[in-house]
Amino acid sequence: MVATSPASGATASVNPPHLRELGINLNHWYAVARSTELTPDKPLGVTLWQQGIVLFRDRDGVAQALEDRCPHRQVQLSSGEVVDGEVECIYHGWRFNAAGACSHVPYLAENQKLPTCTLRQYPVREQDGFVWVFPGDPTQLAAAPLEPLSLPEWDHLNYIATVSIIDVEAHYSFLIENLMDMYHGRLHDDFQAWANPVLNTLEESGDRVDVHYNAQSYYRIDKIWSVSQLFFPALRRLHPEDLYVSYVYPNWVSTLGQDFKICCLFCPTGPTHTRAYLIHFTSLQAFHRLHKLPVAFRRFVKNSLFGSAQKMLDGLVAQDVLMLEQEQKSFLEDPSRKGPELNRALVSVQRLIRQQAIAP
Ligand code: FES
Ligand SMILES: [Fe+2]
Repeated sequence: MVATSPASGATASVNPPHLRELGINLNHWYAVARSTELTPDKPLGVTLWQQGIVLFRDRDGVAQALEDRCPHRQVQLSSGEVVDGEVECIYHGWRFNAAGACSHVPYLAENQKLPTCTLRQYPVREQDGFVWVFPGDPTQLAAAPLEPLSLPEWDHLNYIATVSIIDVEAHYSFLIENLMDMYHGRLHDDFQAWANPVLNTLEESGDRVDVHYNAQSYYRIDKIWSVSQLFFPALRRLHPEDLYVSYVYPNWVSTLGQDFKICCLFCPTGPTHTRAYLIHFTSLQAFHRLHKLPVAFRRFVKNSLFGSAQKMLDGLVAQDVLMLEQEQKSFLEDPSRKGPELNRALVSVQRLIRQQAIAP
């Protein structure tokens, strides 16, 4: 028997909850959508740890977030429209402003007042190409301001980005353990950028776990033609490279040498389903001549090459998703099954998940 505590998002059972049933710490920023998904005239419905949230742009184009529930008949506001920067319910046309107050009822009689129902409003930020929502206690946010994970490479002209969406029927712990565990290269034979990882250092501090692996990389992006290594395995040559992976709760960041960075922005939608954005950045830092060209041209190059690692990234995701869903299925069949774990990074990851899940 499992119940969810609204305060922390943690699940509570009669016995201490199993790791695979733990909630998330709601007092963090979560990436719930890409900025480009949020158009001026359509609301966007997202789910974050079993909470339906409607995103929309106000008159100034600023992203807003409310609970996705019309207080009239409890239908989803995200099925409606955006009118004059407010979200309009599709059923009877009631409108709600960014503060969550009802601002308009199309058939309001002269002797009637607007209903005083107020929707929950979520702190929302738009940063580095993503819309971030803070689902926790707003007073806690005001008391100790937290920032969404910074992705300076997103707008930087020297980085080419690729985004893959992870949509997996599994508890988020399976996904973060997968990302922190560099010993599953066997699965990715054809797509993985690195080889022969050996865990070197491991550090736990506050809300993060940092792991350094000594590894070898197949890629070195130092000549214009070296980008072709991404597409033609025969051109790849192994060389030693540092591989850093970090669980920066609730997200994941990794770098392979100077040329590659991959992040994973977590949006756990519930105890058995996780959505996440996997973002791959390839650096063009080594091309000094490119940096002297006009900004508009560099912007054109950056935009034209967006998604150039799509096949590789989607391939990695598909292989991992298959494993994660099998792990989840096996857990649901028998939660007492537990195999030996030889990677100490995962022990640290599990400890951090537990700490965060019970955090006030
Ligand atoms: S249900 Fe939303 S306006 Fe009636
Ligand atoms: Fe993987």
